[in-house]
Amino acid sequence: MSEPVFVRLDGVTRQWNGAGGVRDVSLEVPRGAFVAILGPSGCGKSTLLRLLAGLETPEAGRIEIDGREVTHLPPAQRGLSMVFQSYALFPHLNVRENILFGMKVRRVSRDAREAALARATKMTGLEGLERRKPAELSGGQRQRVALARAVVSGKPLCLMDEPLSNLDAKLRHSVRRDIKALQRQLGLTVIYVTHDQTEAMSLSDTIVLMRDGRTEQIGPPEALYHAPATPFVARFIGDPPMAVVDGAALGVAAHPVGIRIEAIERVPLNEADIEAEVVETEYLGARTQVLLHHPAAEGLALILPDRVPLPPGTRLGLRLPQEHRVRFAADPHRNHAPHPPLPGDRDGHVADPNPNTHPEDQA
Ligand SMILES: Nc1ncnc2c1ncn2[C@@H]1O[C@H](COP(=O)(O)OP(=O)(O)OP(=O)(O)O)[C@@H](O)[C@H]1O
Ligand SMILES: [Mg+2]
Repeated sequence: MSEPVFVRLDGVTRQWNGAGGVRDVSLEVPRGAFVAILGPSGCGKSTLLRLLAGLETPEAGRIEIDGREVTHLPPAQRGLSMVFQSYALFPHLNVRENILFGMKVRRVSRDAREAALARATKMTGLEGLERRKPAELSGGQRQRVALARAVVSGKPLCLMDEPLSNLDAKLRHSVRRDIKALQRQLGLTVIYVTHDQTEAMSLSDTIVLMRDGRTEQIGPPEALYHAPATPFVARFIGDPPMAVVDGAALGVAAHPVGIRIEAIERVPLNEADIEAEVVETEYLGARTQVLLHHPAAEGLALILPDRVPLPPGTRLGLRLPQEHRVRFAADPHRNHAPHPPLPGDRDGHVADPNPNTHPEDQA
């Protein structure tokens, strides 16, 4: 692809006594991309970001930023800003001084500093708090100071580790949009750690889904949504996630089959691919979501229009249309690609170091 690689990780490993951390992670991020590092708690997201920042040194592998090897360089020499889970503010400086610290060091003009400060405090809702010290702020306010500081830093690469975790739902939503707008406007490359798949789906061009210190799948959000490489991805992405059914229950080979619940159809029992039992129904206004039980399926549910009262225990016939099925390899721990490949897959955003996760490769 044409976009030049801005950040490159090659076989990066950092563990503690052979456990935790990250193992053999390779990743290429083009300039100006918004990449979300997603995964459950403890999968290695923060470790990966700390390695990029220079707060952690790899045991093996190589890190490049903007064409320069930085594997062993200290954070200050990597040309990046950070907003981390544990925000590091200067305790003796007030909000204003904390935000402007980097700019003063770089001798930016007073007018430019004031303009940047006004914009950053407005975006993060910190207006009026400029004279407070960090100790006089709530956790969410401190996090916003760190965010404002990153915004005004002018560094081309911004690393964010759960930057919105201490904000309430409303503020989270508005700051999320601001981050995205700013990233586009300034052409920033952002690497953004989150365990919230909605956040990852809505913000990023590319999602890196991690599991146990390794990358499970790398691709655009719609590829992870429609063509998850493994049942793990299928269960992690989407709300509700994909239903995963043992192929044997569908009369196909004994490998797991994934399907989005919106694709599942209710049909008469004699036309059904499988029969399932109603567990409960949730009326959601425009539709009813029916939770279903089948001994060989996980996350099975059905969406019906309007209000459909179905007593628990009712047996329903289900059709799982072939064109919506995702076939996984029998071994869920291997990164095999699903069938069929996703049409119109926007490839090339982040080159995938593991060819097995490219759907084309299995065609
Ligand atoms: N300094 C350390 N010493 C020992 N183990 C560590 C250290 N730092 C991280 N780990 C381990 O490495 C694994 C990954 O940790 P990491 O902080 O990267 O997870 P995470 O994905 O950011 O999780 P969370 O979503 O909870 O923040 C965990 O099992 C953690 O216990
Ligand atoms: Mg973390």
